[in-house]
Amino acid sequence: MEVIVQPTYESMSRAAAQEVVSVLNAKPDAVIGLATGSTPLGLYQELVRLHREEGLDFSQVRTFNLDEYVGLSIHHPQSYHHFMHENLFQHINIPPQNIYIPSGTTSNYRAFCEWYEQQIKDCGGIDLQVLGIGSDGHIAFNEPTSSLGSRTRLKTLAESTINDNARFFDNRKDVPIYAITMGVGTILEARQIIMLANGRNKATAIARAVEGPITSMITASALQWHPLTRVYLDEEASGELMMRDYYNWIQEKKPDSPQSC
Ligand code: PGA
Repeated sequence: MEVIVQPTYESMSRAAAQEVVSVLNAKPDAVIGLATGSTPLGLYQELVRLHREEGLDFSQVRTFNLDEYVGLSIHHPQSYHHFMHENLFQHINIPPQNIYIPSGTTSNYRAFCEWYEQQIKDCGGIDLQVLGIGSDGHIAFNEPTSSLGSRTRLKTLAESTINDNARFFDNRKDVPIYAITMGVGTILEARQIIMLANGRNKATAIARAVEGPITSMITASALQWHPLTRVYLDEEASGELMMRDYYNWIQEKKPDSPQSC
């Protein structure tokens, strides 16, 4: 994993956005995997700015979101459908038929999950997957002890995740306890991955994911198997990394180092 520490959340978001730009410059019809949550908001704001001010074109892009809560309609303010529409899709020129987000209301989850995996394959696989990380080390909703070979499926959320996400709901009891999520195995098939984390409450999860053993207790640690993963952090999220100086050294010595924005 390549670790890129930026001084602030804003510069981290801008640096990560440049990864998306590079992929779209090389392949205007790229397939991009997208994440929800607080972390990628700055990245999405920067992509919207690049679209408006610099003409970044999404007209041929196809997107696959990682996950969706079970039981929330696409119009529910906390559904990931709603989040993506509000924070990204309505502001860029992506055709609606190019957007894939797991359904939280299907009557047959098993069949839906198989269909979703097949759609990813039919689109040629994911070129760039965007990830956040949970405070319990999860990627998407692959909670601790999820199989590192898992595929898209229905998943019961961990109590810590329900607690983390309760901040978005009026009552903790309104937080769904199930989600449909891409599996760790699905995510690892992306050609390129960027994982973003900011804030002190992610520092332990990041240290365990990047420098700890590969374990299903921290599903983000499975990214150590992936040949092209970059981890974008702000200062606080990098706070528990033992090899921090080495990561900076690598960036300084690289001729094509991503620049601090
Ligand atoms: P957050 O969630 O970006 O809201 O912190 C990340 C995650 O749970 O994957």
